[in-house]
Amino acid sequence: MTHESPKAKVLPLSSQTSDEGVLQVGGCDIRELANEYGTPLYVFDIETLTHQATSYIDAFTSQWPYGVEIHYASKAWINIPLARFLSSLGLSFDVVSGGEISVLRQAGVSLSRSAFHGNNKGPQEIEEALDAGIGQIVVNAHDEISLIESIASELGSKPKILLRVSPGVDAHTHSATTTGLLDSKFGVSVANGEALEACEEISASPHMDFRGIHMHLGSPIFGTEPYVEGIKVGSQLIKQLADKGILVSDFSPGGGFAVAYTDDDDPPDAGVYAKAICETLASEADKLAFPPPKLIIEPGRSISARAGVAIYSVGSRKEIPDVRTYVAVDGGMSDNIRPAIYGSKYEVVPAERMHAVPEETVTIAGKFCESGDILAENVSLPRLRTNELIAIPAAGAYQLAMESNYNLSLKPEVIMVENGNSFTIRRRQIYEDLTRLDVTHGVDSLINTRD
Ligand SMILES: Cc1ncc(COP(=O)(O)O)c(C=O)c1O
Repeated sequence: MTHESPKAKVLPLSSQTSDEGVLQVGGCDIRELANEYGTPLYVFDIETLTHQATSYIDAFTSQWPYGVEIHYASKAWINIPLARFLSSLGLSFDVVSGGEISVLRQAGVSLSRSAFHGNNKGPQEIEEALDAGIGQIVVNAHDEISLIESIASELGSKPKILLRVSPGVDAHTHSATTTGLLDSKFGVSVANGEALEACEEISASPHMDFRGIHMHLGSPIFGTEPYVEGIKVGSQLIKQLADKGILVSDFSPGGGFAVAYTDDDDPPDAGVYAKAICETLASEADKLAFPPPKLIIEPGRSISARAGVAIYSVGSRKEIPDVRTYVAVDGGMSDNIRPAIYGSKYEVVPAERMHAVPEETVTIAGKFCESGDILAENVSLPRLRTNELIAIPAAGAYQLAMESNYNLSLKPEVIMVENGNSFTIRRRQIYEDLTRLDVTHGVDSLINTRD
């Protein structure tokens, strides 16, 4: 027999608890997975990935009859198998670097409905995007127009172009992840008229096919109001362009859709975001008399975060009377730097004793040589024992994407699970991976010359 897991809101959809109180994901017992693959271990639930991708596709296509593309924001985390799987669900991609383009090409997925973003695209990356047959390039700054134009003219191509605009909307996120304000490195300001001028310049170019405007306001955005405000600002620009005879056929309000990281978080679901976005855009199009454009949506974390669970093994404990108790695990800031850079909060689940009563408040620390290497501060847990497993849910986005080999730690194994089956989608690093890029012959010959 299995039971619904406590923390059901943040754990993957397929999570259950066995009679013995062990967490199961995708029908797999976490203890068995840890035995087979080792820890730290990242587990991706196929049911959650499928559900999230399908709900974004369905919510927007059912409410917007004028064309929809859902681009998974690869920056949340991508590798070859994940790219193939998400593509099979009907998603295309938002990419921001030559590296992301290369992974998708190696995955064999088509980039013809994907977009190339980035606030400082290099000439080589632009060439690579064009060579890969990228669906659109999203221009981030005025300087980029002439750069893309010259490369496109040299290569004899005419890429579809969107302009990323900065609408001056506060998305009320962490200051490091708010991107729609005037003081941001992202986008061309609407308020001072620069966005209008840039759109005119792009649409006048013989080497660019102007398609429309894009904005990404920040993330995670827990309400719909910023999207409503952003669309209203964008619609004014679409109207100004229409008055000059320039058609906006594509419009993107970006990504940033929130997920629950803790039991206190209550994010809207895909249908709620879709309703607010589609209704606002439809009513603005109607009011300002412009043709409803194709809608491009860029969810990243809302597709992959909840699908992922990080499994760690408990190690040492340090009690500082009247101050704090630290419990250290075998991962930390090398696989999850979000608490250190954003103060992000997580739930911590005693994965082998799901129904155990909390006995104490502890801070879960990583194993790295930084005081800031903390995964979760002041969490209520049963008294954890050495070698016991804990799970940190909502681990599927912006953790592996920002991982490092700090302290020359090995990057963890990543697996997928479904219906009691598990398989690796990225093997754990081995020590040889740490030195694979080292080049020794220069130093060796220097030493030899000195001998
Ligand atoms: C342009 C753009 N689109 C989409 C996203 C995805 O955001 P999220 O993963 O919060 O949905 C980002 C994130 O930084 C972004 O910069």
